[in-house]
Amino acid sequence: MAEYHEVSPNAPAGEKLLNWVDNRFPASKLFKEHMSEYYAPKNFNFFYIFGSLSLLVLVIQIVTGIFLVMHYKPDAALAFGSVEYIMRDVPWGWLIRYMHSTGASAFFIVVYLHMFRGLMYGSYRKPRELIWLFGCGIFLALMAEAFMGYLLPWGQMSYWGAQVIVNLFAAIPFVGPDLALLIRGDFVVGDATLNRFFSFHVIAVPLVLLGLVVAHIIALHEVGSNNPDGIEIKAKKDAQGRPLDGIPFHPYYSVHDIFAVSVFLMVFSAIVFFAPEMGGYFLEYNNFVPADPFQTPLHIAPVWYFTPFYSMLRAVTTEMMYALIACVLLGAFLAVVKGKMPTLFKGLIVGAAAVLVAMMLSIDAKFWGVVAMGGGVVILFFLPWLDNSPVKSIRYRPDWHKYLYAVFIIDFLVLGYLGILPVSDLSSRISQLGTLFYFGFFILMPWWSCLGKSKPVPDRVTFTPH
Ligand code: HEM
Repeated sequence: MAEYHEVSPNAPAGEKLLNWVDNRFPASKLFKEHMSEYYAPKNFNFFYIFGSLSLLVLVIQIVTGIFLVMHYKPDAALAFGSVEYIMRDVPWGWLIRYMHSTGASAFFIVVYLHMFRGLMYGSYRKPRELIWLFGCGIFLALMAEAFMGYLLPWGQMSYWGAQVIVNLFAAIPFVGPDLALLIRGDFVVGDATLNRFFSFHVIAVPLVLLGLVVAHIIALHEVGSNNPDGIEIKAKKDAQGRPLDGIPFHPYYSVHDIFAVSVFLMVFSAIVFFAPEMGGYFLEYNNFVPADPFQTPLHIAPVWYFTPFYSMLRAVTTEMMYALIACVLLGAFLAVVKGKMPTLFKGLIVGAAAVLVAMMLSIDAKFWGVVAMGGGVVILFFLPWLDNSPVKSIRYRPDWHKYLYAVFIIDFLVLGYLGILPVSDLSSRISQLGTLFYFGFFILMPWWSCLGKSKPVPDRVTFTPH
């Protein structure tokens, strides 16, 4: 036990109170470790605000969610009406509901930008692999949270969106149909589905999400933040052991983040007050019609933040399977011919490729579509081990890497856009190319990331006082 620390009897009341607390709970110690003596690189840029903004949106979602639950009814016969009641009769209910629905989209906007920052500056690389892995876990949990939340208003899109996605699980060989039944709790999406999604949405997933966010930040504070130059600031310290290129998080970045929060809240409020449906992108028009199991809407599309992955699902047709088989065979051929490895490994690669091709030929393309959709997210977990570039930040990589990253982002946006549209021959072809590029970007990263000549990385971060 730490020694009891006394303060002067003449000390101000606030100091005495803090001392009383500090002798029982490490309040000042935690504040110092994580705020006033947490040294962050002094060259943070615009992209470094999205971590704090994600935290803010998380809080907005939890607080507004608590108030929504006070009036929402998780019952297939009452759910739609209870949301209308919140919108029309509960004092300020419309504000709480629109904050929550806009918050869902805002969450994905800030998290996508936050992930993009990590990709650009190599923030997932040693020693920050766990920060990235916790982040990917957060992203998965966030998708589950948003998917289950969307069923709750029990509108046409809630109902049919859930029906389409849950039915996908049925495509998994052997266990699929039972798994889909377990998720639905019934043979079709119904009251049982609504109840279990409600339970997961309000308690199970938020608990996981909170735990992962805490782990994410503990891991970050253990190793320290990366920065746009990708230079480890802990490598150069002053006589007191403080990084020469670091500044205390508080007050420098706390003030910086308060400014970012203010700007964010202005944009957020403008959307909540003036365009909460965002032209049907944040709240789909069909969802203002009560769920009707006997009437399938003409066009079912998930909300925008899922659509890049939805496009990957739709891209995998029987025809696309032949292209994928050709990719597997080519990959195995190159590995065997070019790879420097023992014959045993080469044999294993040929065997694995043969099994995979046999599976691809015998299992329905729909299943592989589900694999592509899930794989699009899962592949992100492997990023720290796929990137072999000698430098972390995009700033010091060969210029063509920048163009490649730009094409990757455009590809992701195009896939997202196509996922909103009904399928056509042309959009299907573009989605197929986009899906191949998306996976190619990651799978071939160990090879392309070390190509080209990287620029010399300076010893100290680049910083211009302003
Ligand atoms: C609820 C969602 C999330 C919250 C609240 C959150 C919070 C934060 C915060 C506060 C930071 C430090 C400030 C900053 O660097 O921006 C951070 C850093 C980081 N986050 Fe997240 N994060 C979330 C999701 C994610 C996701 C989905 C990923 C990636 C898949 C991710 C990857 C990272 C990485 C790699 C860093 C270190 C960045 C660096 O030092 O350059 N985070 N996060």
